[in-house]
Amino acid sequence: MKVLMVCLGNICRSPLAEGILKKMQPEWEIDSAGTASYHIGSAPDPRMISTAASHQIDISMLRARQFTAADFDAFDRIYAMDSSNYTNILSLTSSTEDRAKVHMMLGEEKNVPDPYYGGDEGFENVYQLLHTACQNICNE
Ligand code: 4NP
Repeated sequence: MKVLMVCLGNICRSPLAEGILKKMQPEWEIDSAGTASYHIGSAPDPRMISTAASHQIDISMLRARQFTAADFDAFDRIYAMDSSNYTNILSLTSSTEDRAKVHMMLGEEKNVPDPYYGGDEGFENVYQLLHTACQNICNE
């Protein structure tokens, strides 16, 4: 299974989702990307690296990249962290096959909150949401 996690910056939510699912499914090909270009080449936010480390997950080596239309061919499933990411991903294709690969991480109408401008508790909250969502992906 080839899975791509997508958020806005690829420095908070999607790198953590990548790290959590990789730990659950070491044999799968898992990657993450951002719809925006601001953080290309950056390591994850230090607060998210710490949150991941507190759950025995190392995401410190990941580097942000931007989502591209080529990702529709490279992955079987693409998970958007929020509805804005979802809309941006879908705007890059008109193929029915491609559209069918794109899902909301927490299901319809539910967004993974962006922790970037908040306090530390926002990062742990994101961990809990993503951990549950990754368990659901494993059981699909
Ligand atoms: P992410 O969080 O989409 O979970 O990586 C963000 C990181 C950076 C910004 C926004 C969201 N930013 O505006 O720089």
